[in-house]
Amino acid sequence: MKYNVKSLKLADKGKLRIEWASEYMNVLSLIRKRFDKEKPLKGLKVACCLHVTTETANLALTLKAGGAQVSICASNPLSTQDDVAAALVKHYGIPTFAIKGEDNRTYYRHIVDAISSGPNITMDDGADVVSLIHKDRRDLVKGILGGTEETTTGVIRLRSLEKQGLLMYPIIAVNDADTKHLFDNRYGTGQSTVDGIVRATNILLSGTNFVVCGYGWCGRGVAMRARGMGANVIVIEVDPTKALEAVMDGYNVMPLREASKKGDVFVTVTGDINVLRKEHFELMKDGAIICNSGHFNVELDIPALEKMAKKKRRTREFVEEYTLRDGRRINLLGEGRLINLAAAEGHPASVMDMSFANQALCAEYVAKNHAKLAKKVYKVPDQIDKNIAKLKLESLGIKIDVLTKEQIKYLESWESGT
Ligand code: ADE
Repeated sequence: MKYNVKSLKLADKGKLRIEWASEYMNVLSLIRKRFDKEKPLKGLKVACCLHVTTETANLALTLKAGGAQVSICASNPLSTQDDVAAALVKHYGIPTFAIKGEDNRTYYRHIVDAISSGPNITMDDGADVVSLIHKDRRDLVKGILGGTEETTTGVIRLRSLEKQGLLMYPIIAVNDADTKHLFDNRYGTGQSTVDGIVRATNILLSGTNFVVCGYGWCGRGVAMRARGMGANVIVIEVDPTKALEAVMDGYNVMPLREASKKGDVFVTVTGDINVLRKEHFELMKDGAIICNSGHFNVELDIPALEKMAKKKRRTREFVEEYTLRDGRRINLLGEGRLINLAAAEGHPASVMDMSFANQALCAEYVAKNHAKLAKKVYKVPDQIDKNIAKLKLESLGIKIDVLTKEQIKYLESWESGT
């Protein structure tokens, strides 16, 4: 079996942590049991380009239980948990190509390795596999039934490919399921981003001016949790409706140039490029901390910071201190990569449970329905989405009400008014 991981000696630790995460992934565990009996993915090769974490390992084991031949590579050079990668190889026999801190060349070589067996289903987090196949490996498309996409940034890239008429196989946008983005993006990113910042710096958040750039579901989660830790949260938004929501949610909203002078900590979660750039670095206080929790590290203009700095040194494992010519220091966390996965462990298992239940059920959906699917980006079928919410509630032991017949009839009628 081909693989490339840091060290197989880490495998036992990885296995224990994978089992720990499994305890919090009840919906995925139910799917795994059914997959084990029904084998809906029998004979199919599934290539996963995901953050290699304990939660992803449980997804991989679910796909394998369903009969799939699974291969895995990382969806970010800095998000791999090396013990998990080792356990996937040694204990579960899954070809895994991922090493935390790999350079860009290795990152892409690992993607090539993971798809080398000719996948029937691709599972992306950020659309790097689809992008690579569309650019360099079109020969593989004839074997591909469809794919899934985990994250907002990936869905945006894929919709752009679709719009240009270039998308070569169907994709299910897992990110857009309610049971994914309303929970993973909000509560997952919220908690794990704050966790990453704290683990990287050990700062007290209480009383800091904490600037959140972007008020999508991820930004909302980060703002909410930073406020919970006692920070004064400033929200930066370009969309007037979202900005207004942030105002009415009780945050300070202002242009980034103004916030640049006030902020102690800055987090980008916009999905766009060069959000924090030279004009902002020029205004920041000495000791300002900057980081990113969006998918790509382009949200911070690191090349500009490099140019502005006269000195750079690593002060802690995930902290790079840049000293500017006027003596002010700016601290960059986690090389501008997703701070929640670079310095912490990503979203906790109980929220990834729903995201990866969507992934597993969408892989099954592609396997069963590929003949009916066109070269488009599809929503997750409502039935899958609602069923995951129902199962998650059940697993939490929470019961809810159902409508009476009279109420159903009322909602379907138009006749009765005032
Ligand atoms: N994305 C964010 N957190 C994650 C996790 N724990 N596992 C896989 N992908 C993630």
